[in-house]
Amino acid sequence: QTIYLADYTPYGFIIDDVALHFDLDPRKTRVKSRISFRPTPDASDKTFFLHGENLSLVSAMIDGTPVSPEVTPQGLTCDVPDAPFVWEAEVEIDPMGNTALEGLYMSNGMYCTQCEAEGFRKITYYPDRPDVMAVFTVTINGPHPVLLSNGNPVSSGNDTAEWRDPWPKPAYLFALVAGDLVAHPGSFTTKSGRKVDLNLYVRPGDEGKCAFGMQALKDSMKWDEDVYGREYDLDLFNIVAVDDFNMGAMENKGLNIFNSSAVLASPETSTDMNFERIEAIIAHEYFHNWTGNRITCRDWFQLCLKEGLTVYRDSQFTSDMRSAAVKRIGDVIDLRARQFPEDQGPLAHPVRPESFQEINNFYTATVYEKGAEVIGMLKLLVGDAAYSKALDLYFDRHDGQACTIEDWLQVFEDTTGRDLGQFKRWYSQAGTPQLSVTESWDHGTLTLHFKQHTPASAATADPQPYVLPIAVGLIGQDGDEVHETTVLEMTQAEQSFVFDDLGTRPVASVLRGFSAPVVLTQDLSDADRAHLLAHDTDPFNRWEQGRMLAYGSLLAMIREGKAPNKDWLAGIRAVIGDETLDPAYRALMLGLPSQSDLARALSEAGDTPDPDIIYAATEATRAAMADAFADLLPTLYRRHTVDAPFEPNAKQAGKRALSNAALSLLTRNDDGVLAQEQYDAADNMTQQLSALANLVRAGRGNKAVEAFEAQWKADRLVMDKWFGLQVMEADPEDAHEVVETLTKHPDFNWKNPNRFRAVLGAFAAHHAGFHHASGAGYRLLADWLIQLDPVNPQTTARMCSAFQTWKRYDADRQDMIKAELDRILSQPGLSRDTTEMLTRIRGA
Ligand code: ARG
Ligand code: ZN
Repeated sequence: QTIYLADYTPYGFIIDDVALHFDLDPRKTRVKSRISFRPTPDASDKTFFLHGENLSLVSAMIDGTPVSPEVTPQGLTCDVPDAPFVWEAEVEIDPMGNTALEGLYMSNGMYCTQCEAEGFRKITYYPDRPDVMAVFTVTINGPHPVLLSNGNPVSSGNDTAEWRDPWPKPAYLFALVAGDLVAHPGSFTTKSGRKVDLNLYVRPGDEGKCAFGMQALKDSMKWDEDVYGREYDLDLFNIVAVDDFNMGAMENKGLNIFNSSAVLASPETSTDMNFERIEAIIAHEYFHNWTGNRITCRDWFQLCLKEGLTVYRDSQFTSDMRSAAVKRIGDVIDLRARQFPEDQGPLAHPVRPESFQEINNFYTATVYEKGAEVIGMLKLLVGDAAYSKALDLYFDRHDGQACTIEDWLQVFEDTTGRDLGQFKRWYSQAGTPQLSVTESWDHGTLTLHFKQHTPASAATADPQPYVLPIAVGLIGQDGDEVHETTVLEMTQAEQSFVFDDLGTRPVASVLRGFSAPVVLTQDLSDADRAHLLAHDTDPFNRWEQGRMLAYGSLLAMIREGKAPNKDWLAGIRAVIGDETLDPAYRALMLGLPSQSDLARALSEAGDTPDPDIIYAATEATRAAMADAFADLLPTLYRRHTVDAPFEPNAKQAGKRALSNAALSLLTRNDDGVLAQEQYDAADNMTQQLSALANLVRAGRGNKAVEAFEAQWKADRLVMDKWFGLQVMEADPEDAHEVVETLTKHPDFNWKNPNRFRAVLGAFAAHHAGFHHASGAGYRLLADWLIQLDPVNPQTTARMCSAFQTWKRYDADRQDMIKAELDRILSQPGLSRDTTEMLTRIRGA
């Protein structure tokens, strides 16, 4: 059944108050609800419908009189008075049997919840839609030392606790946690003097992994006050770490619940990348308190209203805490790796979709990351001051409301007087715009001619031109900037912009900072690109020109067997040896486009990618880099190896990133001698894991793999890395066998999403291994998706996207994939989640 945005109607009732009472039991939890309803004045639809799934209804009453509602698998309806009334119900649920990890479930003996988007209906009968907001009082009974819910504690006693959340909220923000947990406490005083108690609740044994997350939370609270003027609004803020969780984390009001991988950190067990990600996710969930909770979404089509904005805010936070240039480059790499394939394949959908079958399938890179890009463009177009004013108005005007993208754009129109009608296409059209630019030069005048074109997709048959902010600067022949960044505003399908009074012909640095999420084609010579790589003042574009040269070099090798481009190698060499540049930035310069990015580039150009050839070209290019930089690498490695005690800050992390990037090239020349040395000496996970990866890649990892397992057997998060690394570093020929062996390991608990993703997710991302010509990779993943679907549809459906690029490949591979898609689709009782994903991927 398909749900359409166009069919939205307001709910027929207003809820004044919700009281919930839980008697916890692993197999028979009783939930009593007492909800005050009153009819919405002049509502068009007066049907009293409550969502409910997998509930056994024990009793129901209206104003104290028992009633017999009409119950279906989706919910219930009942005759109700045309006046305020009180609904009371008791249901029984089975948290232990809830392997889908949605609603109330158990993880390692603890109770926890995940309600977004539509999980609350698995807890009790309720209008489970985000535009129904109410204040909740929650009582929890159960033999557990810690009993938590949203808001502030009212009372607690032996095996009982009462909570009240004074802020009206939709049911998707409800949370409950119960178990044997320990608190890592902290506190924060807001700018107006409210003292907030903070706690990070973890399982006994994880106490030593809390300090970093706590500090990240305090930094986030301060940052949101300083930058957005947003203060926290309760006396208490709790975070709980859970081992079994379908996603990263969840912003439940006053009680954020996190995948333990997204919050627990220590130098011995977490890499620098883990630390950065954890800091960003803690910030993300905290920032939702205003952008998501105080102002929420009217319906799930508006998901990007809270997610795009909150991703944008957390990226600003990371830019401020760490390096803005490095963060921007990382975000663009990620956008191209995850959002571009989605936007250019059968799963393409607008940032605000207009229909869905299962909303969980729309927590996508398009909604999140492209949604954030759209906000970045809006800010660039209106300017920083107008952006701040618009945001102030947004918070002021819509506090306590469930809003739409129209509301969001309206505050920008009202503060700036701009008409955002055309800009709104970024929310309503799917597809990645292709932008091309050519130049003409005439006596001191440079004209840039732009053309934009967005390919049609299943979601958008006839895309219209976008408003594109194109940041441009000009670099002179001597390397000086002759025109600083200016933002061109392109609105037509074709448009030219003129720069005059230029002495000699400069090189145009176009799309600085990746100012719009497009695929840019620019007719620059390799010499011009090398010039920008050496001299561009925009750090993003400087990196980007190196990357474009790398693409050129790799594609020429793939297509014509050419040797690596010498000018590219020389340009990179100059940058990585420049000690005035940030080491983290130089480490990025040593990266190559991923093999799936190369496959995308080939298929964008109309070629059929061959995974084996792409793999071989990547390997040959890495070898050429190791060769070309051989004299430089030992110095780079030594100079940037950190001897000081480990700190997870950007400065140390950048140095480690560069020394480890050097190590991975050095290992090609020394058979892993240095990697083994680093492995033996490592006292932190960043060094240990990077050494291990190099040893495995060099075929010298057996001893270290064993030692690592013996050392970390008891640590689930570290063992996830151990599983994942062996897949990622496997030779393409053996990758599927490595996966088969690992899935037989006694610690391969496939029902745990982190472990499943560590192995099968890593395999789906192993381009040449997954696309093995025999089809063994496709078969293996399909087998596991079939096994997981009845247990956990959400995680299964998410991983189906591994197949979304199938039309890029040759006819044999397409046939094999099609057969696997059909085999999965033919499973009896396949979930709605997986069915929707595979049907869209499979196409007509
Ligand atoms: N709102 C959460 C976040 O972005 C994610 C919830 C994901 N929910 C889902 N059903 N996939 O922070
Ligand atoms: Zn979010």
